[in-house]
Amino acid sequence: MIKERLLSVLTPKVRNQVESYVDAAHVLTTMKDPRVLAALGPSGARGLLLQRGKQGVVTHARASYEAAFDWQYRSDHATSTEMHDLYVRAKQGQWDGDSLPWHIDVDPESPEVPVLPESFIAPERLDALGIHLSEREKRQVLHSLAAWMLSQFLHGEQGALFAAAQVTASIPVFDGKLYGSTQVVDEGRHVEVFHRYLTEKMCKLYQVNDNLFTIIDALMTDSRWDMKFLGMQIMVEGLALGAFGTLYRESKEPLLRQLLKQVILDEARHVHYGVIALKDHIARELSPRERSERESWAFEVAVLMKNRFLAFEVYEEHFVGRMSRADWTSFVSESPGMRRFRTVMFERLMPNLRTIGLLSPEIIPHYEQAGLLPFAHGKSACELSGQDMVKELDSAA
Ligand SMILES: [Fe+2]
Ligand SMILES: [Fe+2]
Repeated sequence: MIKERLLSVLTPKVRNQVESYVDAAHVLTTMKDPRVLAALGPSGARGLLLQRGKQGVVTHARASYEAAFDWQYRSDHATSTEMHDLYVRAKQGQWDGDSLPWHIDVDPESPEVPVLPESFIAPERLDALGIHLSEREKRQVLHSLAAWMLSQFLHGEQGALFAAAQVTASIPVFDGKLYGSTQVVDEGRHVEVFHRYLTEKMCKLYQVNDNLFTIIDALMTDSRWDMKFLGMQIMVEGLALGAFGTLYRESKEPLLRQLLKQVILDEARHVHYGVIALKDHIARELSPRERSERESWAFEVAVLMKNRFLAFEVYEEHFVGRMSRADWTSFVSESPGMRRFRTVMFERLMPNLRTIGLLSPEIIPHYEQAGLLPFAHGKSACELSGQDMVKELDSAA
């Protein structure tokens, strides 16, 4: 009540800023495991409170990791050829970003060939809040939302590029290093194509979302190679794969669909790489305490990603002063498209957590409470190729 009265005297812009700080503090104070808070807290302060990713300048983060040289170049074929086979497939699956049909004209506000269809947010739901958008405004909001999502994909790809380079140096398995080299090239190409699409076709680029910044910053600074793998290859890549799949299915714009299809084929390999590298490591190399720390960390990051990608940057552009931040939160998170996004993202992520051994009976009740457990029974990255995924998405369209 008192809080509401204090907030009501602020201008909408200042109120939004204050509420975003309160929100950020809430995220950090709800982390239950002190080890997870210690690992994510400093990055949370840099990302959520100081908004280091939004200062309009190059952000410097001190990357730390241990490189592992293997002068014997020991192949791990003796135990399994899975990693080697993945490397062979990655070499054969290389493609050139210039080969996409860039000649296609894209109108980001076209109702006939929508980049993001109206049904994604169902804007008529705003009527209940007393907000009636004109046709033009609807198109502008959809344009903003699509550009915001693609911008976060782009920023995530930059993080993936750096993480791939780091894990290539630090993975103690020779075949893993060879495979990692292909992922570095893949991620560079992904940065190239998303950036080109945003600047040439959408003509709009958003800054990095604070929650995404927090996760990327934490991965750069964590010195444990398996945490980088878990964070980037399993969590960020797994969720991105779901997000790319959803947009591939929803969008009617042919250039973007082709771009996403190519990226999905690469990303499916990346997640597969993470699962192969981690499943034995977690089972054999980690102590129970270390394993449980990774399990809690993965849970907190999953919740962060489930609840926090709410396009507040689009709210700030179009709706500050017209509706509250809380109303925007429920409008976006309950929109039909976002619901589908969450479903596909967690369908991709949860089976991989199960396969690498981070879904023990201790953590299951937490996932159950977060509503994520039903997604754990599907196929993991080892059982689902990129081609299978695209086929599945095409048949569901
Ligand atoms: Fe990527
Ligand atoms: Fe990737």
